[in-house]
Amino acid sequence: MKRVLTYGTFDLLHVGHIRLLERARALGDYLVVGLSTDEFNLGKGKKSVFSYAERFAILSAIRHVDKIIPEDNWEQKLDDVRGNEIGVFVMGDDWQGKFDFLKSHCEVAYLPRTAGISTTYIKYLIAEQ
Ligand code: CTP
Repeated sequence: MKRVLTYGTFDLLHVGHIRLLERARALGDYLVVGLSTDEFNLGKGKKSVFSYAERFAILSAIRHVDKIIPEDNWEQKLDDVRGNEIGVFVMGDDWQGKFDFLKSHCEVAYLPRTAGISTTYIKYLIAEQ
């Protein structure tokens, strides 16, 4: 079995998230998502609209997602790759090159983002109303 790992906040779920998850899952047979915790986001100066528990509930209902683990620090990726027997590490290409250090442990793939949509843009649209 080929296991795939990706990370994100997945707040205000949108089609860019779904397309990323679908393509990530298609690179293997089992998709693990590292979902950023509220504390980790606050440390980055980000506050999600939906809580970790709410984002977890939404993400776990998506058929492309097999397992969700918390992402609570920047250094956990190598342990997550080893601990979950990951074959492919996948991120959107906004992270191009940033995780190449994992290439000695698994494949690393960067997928093109879906144009014209982001959580930040949805927040902007709502604020404009
Ligand atoms: N993603 C994507 N296409 C988009 C938006 C996001 O492929 N239009 C991908 C990101 O590259 C990442 C994953 O979805 O691999 C989770 O992204 P996340 O940062 O949670 O969502 P964004 O919409 O990018 O959020 P923000 O605007 O807060 O950065």
